[in-house]
Amino acid sequence: MGFGEGGRNLSSERFLPPSPIFIQNKAMRINILTLFPEWFASPLDTALLGKAREAGLVEFDILNPRDRTEDRHHIVDDRPYGGGPGMVMMLEPLVKTLRELETERGGAGRIIMLAAAGKPLTQSLARELAREETLTLVCGRYEGIDARLMDILPVEQVSVGEAVLNGGEAAAMMLVEAATRLIPGFMGKEESGDDESFSAGLLEYPHFTRPEVFEDVPVPDVLRSGDHGRIAKWRREQSLRTTLRVRPDMLDGAPLTSDDMEYLRETVEAAGRLRLGRNLHCALVHYPVFLGDRKTGATSLTNLDVHDIARCSRTYGLGSFTVVTPLKDQQTILETLVRHWTEGPGGVSNPDRAEAFSLVRMASDVQGAIDLVEARTGQRPVLLGTSARDNGVMTPQAVRDLLVDRPVLLLFGTGHGMAPEILDACDGILRPLRWMDAYNHLPVRGAVAITLDRVLGDCC
Ligand SMILES: C[S@@+](CC[C@H](N)C(=O)[O-])C[C@H]1O[C@@H](n2cnc3c(N)ncnc32)[C@H](O)[C@@H]1O
Repeated sequence: MGFGEGGRNLSSERFLPPSPIFIQNKAMRINILTLFPEWFASPLDTALLGKAREAGLVEFDILNPRDRTEDRHHIVDDRPYGGGPGMVMMLEPLVKTLRELETERGGAGRIIMLAAAGKPLTQSLARELAREETLTLVCGRYEGIDARLMDILPVEQVSVGEAVLNGGEAAAMMLVEAATRLIPGFMGKEESGDDESFSAGLLEYPHFTRPEVFEDVPVPDVLRSGDHGRIAKWRREQSLRTTLRVRPDMLDGAPLTSDDMEYLRETVEAAGRLRLGRNLHCALVHYPVFLGDRKTGATSLTNLDVHDIARCSRTYGLGSFTVVTPLKDQQTILETLVRHWTEGPGGVSNPDRAEAFSLVRMASDVQGAIDLVEARTGQRPVLLGTSARDNGVMTPQAVRDLLVDRPVLLLFGTGHGMAPEILDACDGILRPLRWMDAYNHLPVRGAVAITLDRVLGDCC
């Protein structure tokens, strides 16, 4: 049987340590270690969670490590080794409380410490935790807990988001809310939690209730049609749209059907997709670059590079691709190539290639490439370099942030990489690809493809 939200209000004395309201054989037991037991007085007592406790689906034991101290002042924290601000929670009161659970209270079960530096709390972790018989949640305060706790006992660290809270109590409560509502019987049977945000790797569709029209805003027609097939389709599409708009990163892991993909491709495209690639321009620099013997000079054009980078540029929706070479004979080769694949027989027999080649520009030097972008966009582009060797620090996310409102010109070097005078003139240099490994000798067209994908991915 499920429970509706209701105005029941249990008094806090009924659950404060250590008197669970009602014990059923299968009740999930949650121990919470906190310096502030009173923090939990209301949340554990309210709405569905209060009812679930009353029905014996879940029981709580709130333990205060301060009560396990033996010194006169009941000290639980001390200054950090190595200096720095704040205090650190001491091991002894915590370990004593956790061992007490093992010896006197039926076991600690899975021990979780709430920590900003922990693994993220996700819907799948919540599902996993909902299947545990016993959970013990450790709430930190101050700067956190002496890290040796993790060496002494099997403690997992879980974070509830990329923001720092004052203490672990609110985080523990989030975990409790996420896990307990998935215990069978906690929600009505029609509300299994399967249909909610994150369950299918997507964010949820919007909900509406009476009245049908409020301040001239109507409920969508489809929801009043009674056509369950259409309603299900509409809800799925709304989920896809919301996820694309708010959390496009989730689409990488979401199990999408080919219909979902077609919907996103066509409908959302028409609705105005954020195409960050339009602000991105790339250039392939043939001079000045390092040659094999530590000298700098010019390299020759490579037919394959021009083809493949043009195709990548078109695939990722870039604004342009400029080939930089001061050598007249190389410029002539490029002009011939571009003409052949746009206006000439190549373009006629292969229109896709013609489309890619329509992005190709030519400049004698990097300044010329900057001028071309400026002429096209009306703004001087942010100049970014790439290098397999240099200690570039710029992240793909930082490039994405720039692209929201500025053109960016991304330089790729041929030969053994761009000469220092070019890299020094850049506004930023991207982290080398595979910066954690000693071997990262990628062909330049490979590096272009990987970089574009890291910056833009499938959805930008
Ligand atoms: C002020 S915070 C300590 C922050 C810590 N110095 C850091 O930079 O990660 C005190 C306690 O709040 C809890 N806490 C803070 N932010 C959290 C988060 N995002 N997720 C889970 N617990 C968090 C942890 O229990 C932590 O020990």
